[in-house]
Amino acid sequence: MISTARVHRLAVIRGDGIGPEVIDASLDVLAAAESMFGFSTEVTEISAGARHYLATGELWTPALQAQLRSHDAILFGAMGDPAVAPGILERGFILEMRRTFQQAVNLRPIKLYPGVATPIAGLTPERCDLVIVRENTEGSYVGRGSTVHAGTPNAVAVQESVNTRMGVERVVEFAFRLAERRGGTLTLCHKKNILVEAGTLWQSTVDELSARFPTVPVDYVHVDAFCFYLPTAPERFNVVVTDNLFGDIITDLGAAIQGGLGVAASANLNLDGSGPSMFEAIHGSAPDIAGRGWANPVGAILSTAMCLAHLGEGDAARAIEAAAVHVLAQLPATAGPGMGFSTAELGREIASLLQSGAPVSAVPGYSVMDDLAALR
Ligand code: NAI
Ligand code: MG
Repeated sequence: MISTARVHRLAVIRGDGIGPEVIDASLDVLAAAESMFGFSTEVTEISAGARHYLATGELWTPALQAQLRSHDAILFGAMGDPAVAPGILERGFILEMRRTFQQAVNLRPIKLYPGVATPIAGLTPERCDLVIVRENTEGSYVGRGSTVHAGTPNAVAVQESVNTRMGVERVVEFAFRLAERRGGTLTLCHKKNILVEAGTLWQSTVDELSARFPTVPVDYVHVDAFCFYLPTAPERFNVVVTDNLFGDIITDLGAAIQGGLGVAASANLNLDGSGPSMFEAIHGSAPDIAGRGWANPVGAILSTAMCLAHLGEGDAARAIEAAAVHVLAQLPATAGPGMGFSTAELGREIASLLQSGAPVSAVPGYSVMDDLAALR
């Protein structure tokens, strides 16, 4: 008998701080989705992060890379710990993972869900529904630079930003395809008036590719102006493409607008099939609240849904999004003890809503789950 069962092989990296807490809640939701939508997963737990590093000295080893590469996708909690010097895990593991597996696009929806409190007075979900496409392997994050006369008054630190035509083109093309699908404008966010070399490469790539996507209106905004427009007029944006550093910064601003770091999700997408894609909430390990049960797992749960959409389980992904958003709308706060539910309780709440099959109204507006399912 030929089996038609859909089996997805997932590598799960819990990591540090609240990473394990939000991943546990996500796996509860994943299990519920499997029972409802007729697919299954084989989950491999990968030991990595601060504790593993302090015990073994290991970061991004060839053996680990080979193991991860044999999976369909990676679910990632968070890394970073006060016991490890800043940058060792973040650069030595997370950036290496994005680079090794050529996870060229970091896709971050900035969507204000109904019923979620935003610090922007008067902002409504209809006005805040955009996606940021952040270049994920180049820019200032390649770690190129040097310091001469370090530790002296004559110290000279040079930190380079690397922008290749190939690296820029693949994310710009992805952003155009996304904007075409969503029927919206593609905005390039940069600082081309000052960073002229990199800015010219980005703008000329957008201009050239624009001819292939005649239905997509193109716009340009300087990154400082973007920080003004995003909170005050987010309806101006639909798909935004930007470099690694700008993307890192503006997506935290986006997270604040959409209800906090605890609800923001992301996908790190390999576009050429050469390695697995990776899915993570955009927050870090939050050592200040680790172990308290106060972490909001919705960002991690929505990232898990993005993973399923990417793997072809669009129905499950949309159902998880709807259930998570339904539960989120009932919380008096999006983080801290004021949420009224612990991290684990929120996971179980969303899982049982999913499993009950109770009708939950679809999430209004664009769904990034649809986008991911369509752009695989
Ligand atoms: P963070 O995102 O861990 O925390 C920032 C603030 O937001 C903290 O007050 C935290 O309590 C709160 N917060 C974060 N996630 C939350 C959630 N799910 N629910 C409720 N509140 C939440 O950023 P921070 O403090 O700058 O970095 C902590 C560590 O994480 C550092 O070592 C940093 O390098 C690392 N980091 C790792 C990332 C990753 O693994 N991809 C991304 C960002 C930071
Ligand atoms: Mg960041």
